[in-house]
Amino acid sequence: MRKPTENVDIFKKRRQKAIAQLGSKALIVGAHPELIRNDDVHFAYRQDTNLYYLTGFEEPESILLLLPGKNPQEVMFVRRKNPERETWDGFRYGPADAQTQFKFDQVYPIDEFETRASELLKGFDGIYYRLRKNLKMDDTVLSIAESLRRTQGRTGLGLLSIHDADEFLGEMRVIKDEVELHNLRTACEISAQGHISAMQKIRPGMSERQVQAILQYEFLNRGAAREGYNFIVASGNAATTLHYNFNDQPCRDGDLLLIDAGAEFNYYTGDITRTFPVNGQFTKPQSEVYNHVLNVQQKIIDILKPGVPFRQLHEMGTELLTDAMLDLGLLSGRKADIISSGQHRKYYPHGIGHFLGMDVHDSGKYFLKGEPRPIEAGMTFTVEPGLYIPAHDTSAPAEFRGIGVRIEDNILITANGHEVMTKSAPK
Ligand code: GLY
Ligand code: MN
Ligand code: MN
Repeated sequence: MRKPTENVDIFKKRRQKAIAQLGSKALIVGAHPELIRNDDVHFAYRQDTNLYYLTGFEEPESILLLLPGKNPQEVMFVRRKNPERETWDGFRYGPADAQTQFKFDQVYPIDEFETRASELLKGFDGIYYRLRKNLKMDDTVLSIAESLRRTQGRTGLGLLSIHDADEFLGEMRVIKDEVELHNLRTACEISAQGHISAMQKIRPGMSERQVQAILQYEFLNRGAAREGYNFIVASGNAATTLHYNFNDQPCRDGDLLLIDAGAEFNYYTGDITRTFPVNGQFTKPQSEVYNHVLNVQQKIIDILKPGVPFRQLHEMGTELLTDAMLDLGLLSGRKADIISSGQHRKYYPHGIGHFLGMDVHDSGKYFLKGEPRPIEAGMTFTVEPGLYIPAHDTSAPAEFRGIGVRIEDNILITANGHEVMTKSAPK
């Protein structure tokens, strides 16, 4: 029998914390549907982030119900044991073992979800559920809501209200606990080692895909389950495409190589970008662009501590990168006019960073009640300034055309300052 990958008490505590905040509403979180890749082959399965966050359970076709104040309070639905299917697809826990191994109050077979949930949800004045992630499940949940409405007769009560489960759970995930930090630091370190290996092994003429293979090998060899997002291995002008992932071109002598890659460890992912010369030597224009981006990143990282609003980092990034564009002769005019008219977006079209955790673009609000949210101890996010000058941009000085540079590190905010979790990867 397989065993849960992590200590299940962590997940039990999270369920209890969620229950304490749900009030008179129930929570429903389901697995993603399995996706067909071709014919009878599926894409590799990864559990829905929120369902894993609350259960540690990795099988498809599973649903968690949290029912505050009821007995049972934590009800899980999973696939039945099925010796024939298990011969083909491998082990599944089945309800009885899922209940003991994962410490749910009660586990039922998934095929009983609709009838059981219709009973279990009686008496709640709303549900937390995220629509449009699993259309089949939406259909079931909505028909449960409708059947509950019908049982109320002519009381004047309407359809059960639906609230966004991902918003609710997303906020729970913003401040990372010690177990999460262990996982995230490990993911960051594995990611950094992958980048180091790529830097060591790169040679002119190697294909971007061979570089991807180096990263992938290091990630898996060091204990990562998979990558946290698609590899971006972009040489030369491809680095000016933000989410380039063809990864099929040769890395040419004299070009820069931009790698944006992160390993996923226990469902937490690193998100590192490094840009370096394929032949080991920056040209003068490459180093000018690189040093600007590096200086901007360092200035922003230097001010990171609790209380600084995330918005301020974004504005600082825009100001400093616009200064760099002016200095490089990419743009001309008054800085304030450039920023207010959005001209800087031509060379820096993204934000300065994002929360990082189980999802590469992790959950969490950047504004609270319309006000910029201050960063707090336990938050983790990226700082990733970049400048991208496409080869076809004839308005840019010729020497800078075809240069794309991004430098991205992963930060933990501590009580008094910050920790750069990706510091092993050289810049
Ligand atoms: N790897 C995607 C990003 O940096 O946001
Ligand atoms: Mn990022
Ligand atoms: Mn990235």
